[in-house]
This record gives sequence, structure tokens and C-alpha cells, in this order.
Amino acid sequence: LELLNHTNDLAGEVVLVTAGGTREALDPVRYIGNRSSGKMGYALAYAAQRRGARVILITAPTALHPPPNCEVVSVVTTGQMRDAVVSRLPEATMVIKAAAVADYRAISMADQKLKRSGPLTLQLEPTADILAEVASLRKPGTLVIGFAAETEDHLTHGRDKLLRKGADAIVLNDVSREGIGFDSDRNAATFLTKQTAIELPEMSKRDLADRILDEAIALRRPQSV
Ligand code: CTP
Ligand code: CA
Repeated sequence: LELLNHTNDLAGEVVLVTAGGTREALDPVRYIGNRSSGKMGYALAYAAQRRGARVILITAPTALHPPPNCEVVSVVTTGQMRDAVVSRLPEATMVIKAAAVADYRAISMADQKLKRSGPLTLQLEPTADILAEVASLRKPGTLVIGFAAETEDHLTHGRDKLLRKGADAIVLNDVSREGIGFDSDRNAATFLTKQTAIELPEMSKRDLADRILDEAIALRRPQSV
């Protein structure tokens, strides 16, 4: 009986989770996307509601069923995700940005299907950085947790992102490791704050979600010196 395992330690929290990979259209049938399956974000949403939080799940397209008891907002593009996140931000006490956001979009979308003929050059522009915007717009006391997928120099890039974006923590994934991460049901991560780097060894995404939430709420406790 799952109820017996409830600790309800997130009661009173409103957790805003973003999940999946945003998509930017190139023409009516094609888009720029990424390999995110949404599993990590959905596992976080599931774990947070199970522990008593109210959960707002803002999700880019995935092949997953949303967890029960979450308020689901479906989006496709980075711009739509940004607007949804900013409009729901005032309600949130914790924001977890597990989504893999498309970094570029076409400067202009073709209104007809692009025809295949010879080399093609696409003109792209960067999308808005939702995490950085959320970190600067949030009200005091709102926790902001980002994710970062890196293939090299993880700690250096992770720390750089943490400082540049102004998040309270970054969940750092080493995507060069085989068999975990993208599409897998398992993952490993480093929970990175300005002061600490906590290793979360390989485990199921369900368990990892609970460990990430443990570390997130620990950030609310006064730091011992
Ligand atoms: N992120 C975001 N908006 C973007 C890009 C990223 O909110 N336009 C968020 C992601 O949801 C994630 C964090 O920022 O929580 C880090 O994403 P990542 O792709 O690692 O960072 P980038 O700044 O895009 O750096 P990179 O050039 O390595 O892709
Ligand atoms: Ca990126």
C-alpha cells in the first residue's frame, strides 16, 4: 500500500516541473528537436505529488502518460513553454526545469514543405533562456533547480551554468555515459550548488526523482557553517 510510504514532506509546496523536449518548426512537417524522452521530468512530477505537493507539469511532446494528480499544461515550442512557465511562476514555491529546451529556431518558418534539392542552409536564431528568466523573476523563497546535460568537463560547465543562470542548483547529467540518461529508465547525476557537488549514483529515474527532491528541500534548511 503506497499510502504507507507517504511522508507528505512536500505538503504546502507548489512544484512547477517542465519536461520533454521543445520543438521548433522548420516547415509544416519538420522541426528541430532533441532526444529528451520526458521520463525524468515526469518522474519528478510523480514523486512530488506523491509527497504531497501540488504539481503543475508544463510539458513539451512526449510519448508518456502524465502522472495522476498533476495539472498538465501541454506546449510545443520554447516560446510557448516560456509563456506558460512565466504565467504560472507566481504560484510556484519550487521550479524544476527538467525540460530539454530547443536552443535555436528558424528565423522564418517556411509555409510550404521544403523540397529536397541540393545542400540546404538554415538560418537560426537562439531561443529565450527560460531558466535564467525564471531565476530573475521569482519571488523570494522560490527554489529554482535547473538541469544540464554535458558530454565533457561536466563540473566546469555545470558550475558555469549555475552561476550564469542564477539557479539554486543544477542537476548535472553526463550524457556520454552508455545505457543511462536519454530514453533510459535509469540515470545518474551530480546535484550541484554553489557550495557542494553531491553525487547521485546510477539508479532508476523514479528513485533519482526522490533524491533530487530530497536535496532540493534540504536547500531550505539553514546551512551549517
Ligand atoms: N534552458 C532554458 N531555456 C533555454 C535553454 C535551456 O530554460 N533556452 C534550461 C534547461 O531547461 C535546463 C538548463 O537551462 O534546465 C540547462 O540547459 P542546457 O541546454 O544545458 O543549457 P544551455 O544554456 O542551453 O547550454 P548549452 O549550450 O550547453 O546547450
Ligand atoms: Ca541547450
